[in-house]
Amino acid sequence: TEAIMNKKVRIAVLVSGGGTNLQALIDAQADGKLSSGEIKLVIASNNEAYALKRAENNGIKTAVAVKKNCPQDEFEKKILDILDKNNIDMIILAGFMCILSADFISKWSRRIINVHPSLIPSFCGKGCYGLHVHEKALDYGVKVTGATVHFVNEIPDGGEIIFQKAVNVEDGDTPEILQKRVMEQAEWKIMPQAINDIANGKIKVVDNKVIYQ
Ligand code: GAR
Repeated sequence: TEAIMNKKVRIAVLVSGGGTNLQALIDAQADGKLSSGEIKLVIASNNEAYALKRAENNGIKTAVAVKKNCPQDEFEKKILDILDKNNIDMIILAGFMCILSADFISKWSRRIINVHPSLIPSFCGKGCYGLHVHEKALDYGVKVTGATVHFVNEIPDGGEIIFQKAVNVEDGDTPEILQKRVMEQAEWKIMPQAINDIANGKIKVVDNKVIYQ
């Protein structure tokens, strides 16, 4: 029926920190730019994540699965249970600073997407997250960096690339200044766009590459 056809994709956003990418998604939703998706749940890996506050301020349900001192299998079981109870269709990693196991990912194949603050395959992989990414870009001396939205597979920052956007590095940049520019010019734009396109069925994967239809 039409009611079923119009069912929105139920999105869970996984976070660990400030949640500015979550905020970009909340704002996109408020502006009608997530037309076929709806943020139903925010799950944080710690109780202190300011992202939780952002969710609460916007009437979005929250949950916490504390990573610290928790065995990986227990941590993941907790997340899987919460996703299941909330009938979630799609997972967004938005500043989620925990690596998920191959077992977890296989259960959610091509239904998890991540945003990473560099042009993958530069400055990515295990241990390369958050501000470290920008420190490495500045240490290397690249003149262009950016952000990547990709499907998540068992390789950290692996998975098919959905969107990338380049951002210039400027003289005098600090990791903090560069991080802010990459967020404003790239992450906060390509993340909501990717989610909307996926929810609208515009993206498919052929031979391990994303194509638009
Ligand atoms: C963002 O820059 C995000 O791309 C990055 O951490 C920051 C989180 O900020 N994620 C990674 O490095 C994951 N590998 P936020 O909590 O304000 O969205």
